[in-house]
Amino acid sequence: MCGIVGYVGTQSAQNVVVDGLRRLEYRGYDSAGVALVAQGQVASAKKEGKLANLEAELAAHPLPESGTGIGHTRWATHGAPNDVNAHPHVSRSGRVALVHNGIIENFAALRTELEAEGITALSETDTEVAAQLLGREVDNGADIAEAMRTVCRRLEGAFTLVAVDAQAPGRVVAARRNSPLVVGVGEGENFLGSDVAAFIEHTREAVELGQDQMVEITADSWTVTDFDGNPADATPYHVDWDLSAAQKDGFDWFMRKEIHEQPRALADTLLGRHAEDGSLTLDEIRMPVSELRSIQRIVIIGCGTAHYAGMVAKYAIEHWTRIPCEVELASEFRYRDPIVGPQTLVVAISQSGETADTLMAIRYAQEQGSKVLAICNTNGSTIPRESDAVIYTHAGPEIGVASTKGFLTQVLACYLLGLYLAQIKNTKFGDEIAAVVAELETMPAKVQEVLDAQQRVLDLAAAFADNPSVLFLGRHAGYPVALEGALKLKELAYIHAEGFAAGELKHGPIAVIDKDLPVFVVVPPRGRDMLHDKTVSNIQEIRARGAQTIVLAEADDDTVAPYADVLIGLPKVSTLLQPLVATVPLQLFACELATVKGHDVDQPRNLAKSVTVE
Ligand code: F6R
Repeated sequence: MCGIVGYVGTQSAQNVVVDGLRRLEYRGYDSAGVALVAQGQVASAKKEGKLANLEAELAAHPLPESGTGIGHTRWATHGAPNDVNAHPHVSRSGRVALVHNGIIENFAALRTELEAEGITALSETDTEVAAQLLGREVDNGADIAEAMRTVCRRLEGAFTLVAVDAQAPGRVVAARRNSPLVVGVGEGENFLGSDVAAFIEHTREAVELGQDQMVEITADSWTVTDFDGNPADATPYHVDWDLSAAQKDGFDWFMRKEIHEQPRALADTLLGRHAEDGSLTLDEIRMPVSELRSIQRIVIIGCGTAHYAGMVAKYAIEHWTRIPCEVELASEFRYRDPIVGPQTLVVAISQSGETADTLMAIRYAQEQGSKVLAICNTNGSTIPRESDAVIYTHAGPEIGVASTKGFLTQVLACYLLGLYLAQIKNTKFGDEIAAVVAELETMPAKVQEVLDAQQRVLDLAAAFADNPSVLFLGRHAGYPVALEGALKLKELAYIHAEGFAAGELKHGPIAVIDKDLPVFVVVPPRGRDMLHDKTVSNIQEIRARGAQTIVLAEADDDTVAPYADVLIGLPKVSTLLQPLVATVPLQLFACELATVKGHDVDQPRNLAKSVTVE
């Protein structure tokens, strides 16, 4: 949440910063602003609403040329999304400008302290106290870097702060605790960003900062310290994707592009992770095999779509490993005093690697003695860095706010983990594991088949554009698919949508069914007859009550065809792997329905990608 950019170099800082904000806008789009250091002064501009409003303001009232600047795109927490609350915030003397991502939890006490000195806040934000504190320090003679350290030592909560000082041209200072910040290392120029998308068109060399670290960049240097000024280690890395991955490539939305990238994302996530004989080679897991063998219980945590990926994983991991596996919302986990310890493996799923709820949950689990394995898509992010082990999904950058390829690759990574545990615990024979791996290898092509047949789903979305409510039903691994279908529709089309376990219908939800209510039903493959047949009975029950049934089933499933108003054919796959193909039509449906309704699919209202506040 909130995107942050910093730049020092010979290019126009305004252009570099605004371009960076454009790539980070998915992190928040309530307002945007920039501040530059020019002619011994801070010059700034900020505007409520999307970045386009700021760009119009800058075109109308250009800022002076400068090679030193910072910028921010906001997802509002404290204070309404308006011009005054927009970042950057400038200190009372006008010398310091600051942008912030996170929440300063002790801001009220700090604000009272400042008010006692006659420094009254202009905005309703928590951020402004940090700007005023920094300003007070430099006005009292501190160097901006020293001032930043002093202020950070006083702040509680989560923050990435990036600041410039009118009297320190050519320098940008930044600090982080519990919120993301990476350095981009260029030649004769350096960058800061909430993530590498901020500077990917200029450099693919990045440095990940640790907890409670501060960095100062000039055109030729980057220096990392802790909050006491001691030199600190930070980890340089090479970004393995480039600018083209962060562009729409002719699609109308990033989301649609990312849905279409799923075959490649799955193939890349599988690549190099098994030998020719089908045995798993997850060398990147930094945990000894003996330790993994001793795991007695698995707890999977995640939020939103990542949580649903965990729900899919539970069916597969328990089936293959016979290790009891629970799935829990990361935001609930640490507040209920969960029973976890050294023999529990906590699996934290996060596309961004920065979700605050998940991060706090893994810290809690580690305090209780559990090992944490992250499944993550973002190299250099906090969750994999703080975890004991990691399996990266190789989906490439996900920019659409609604997660799509993130979900499919998370599910795939969970399958790989389950098979790997089955291999080292000998709960499956080698040939059984090899058979699943062989089927996984076919999944990119099967997802492509679903994409190739998408027209039917797109037409359906146009036909249902005015429906106020949609239900999604599924059983077994199809149940989380139903939940994910409903979440996508809620967040993009802003209509009421709910996912239910098909068997629960008779226990209450069937009361909402009436004539014309569209109900999507995910039907398990026919191989597991009981599951399949029970779901077909559920379809008959809802049809008898007048609902319209949109059935996702194997394309040649003639047992279900008579009860389907619309049949969306799926390729033949085994039950546990069906979520990889069954989710795709639901993603397309939500994307198209939101498009038809005229919504901004990539930036749905009230949302932001990367939820870095609890
Ligand atoms: C929904 C969606 C969110 C995220 C959730 C977790 O489309 O994108 O529900 O899945 O905020 O995000 P990560 O995976 O980054 O931890």
